[in-house]
Amino acid sequence: MSDPNAAKRAAAYAAADLVQDGMTIGLGSGSTFAFVIERLAARRRDQGLKVRGVPTSRTTAELAQQAGVPLLTLDEVERLDLAIDGADEVDPQKNLIKGGGGAHVRERIVAAAAKEMVVIVDESKLVPVLGKAFLLPVEVLQFGWRQAERLVAATGCKPQRRERDGAPFVTDNGNFVLDCKYDGIADPAFLASVLDGLVGVVDHGLFVGMAGRVVVANAAGQVRILP
Ligand code: A5P
Repeated sequence: MSDPNAAKRAAAYAAADLVQDGMTIGLGSGSTFAFVIERLAARRRDQGLKVRGVPTSRTTAELAQQAGVPLLTLDEVERLDLAIDGADEVDPQKNLIKGGGGAHVRERIVAAAAKEMVVIVDESKLVPVLGKAFLLPVEVLQFGWRQAERLVAATGCKPQRRERDGAPFVTDNGNFVLDCKYDGIADPAFLASVLDGLVGVVDHGLFVGMAGRVVVANAAGQVRILP
């Protein structure tokens, strides 16, 4: 049987191989990124690679610790050499939807601290228009979240508070996530700027103009890099 994770693994390994000795990198979150940790651990063991990472979530921090990848906090570094992270959707301009795992607030902060954000996806994540299939995650404060929901809905979507195991999902930052159904996001930069201005909204999963190289892999494990 073919490996269902072949594409994710191939993209992640190719990105992990961009990491050079002595780099300090941003460690993304999600199922694709987990394979980056796997590869970095192997390169540390086999090649003596020296690398340190700033994690974007508690889950990633735990994975990295288990794999022996040394961690730093973002406040201990000036700039990151690279940030590597997954995405839920990527459009032809390399704009992204992120936050399927609810880590997008820290992911943005870490990516912004990096000289380049390298995105890793299987090719199913490439879409002509963002937000037709995937719901846009918007992180809101718990306090008055219904008001934030009303403001977010007025941008033209149906928001639904994310739940996990029958209870509201709470991010690493202690906030709620609204998953927002748009009928396609025609102008991601405009929507991002509107969401940025809403009271009670902490951040959202629209990453506009942030991605550097996008490493894409298919189920056969073939990798291409969108510059
Ligand atoms: C985490 O909140 C997300 O931004 C992930 O980076 C994104 O959802 C991709 O996750 P997968 O690699 O699991 O699809």
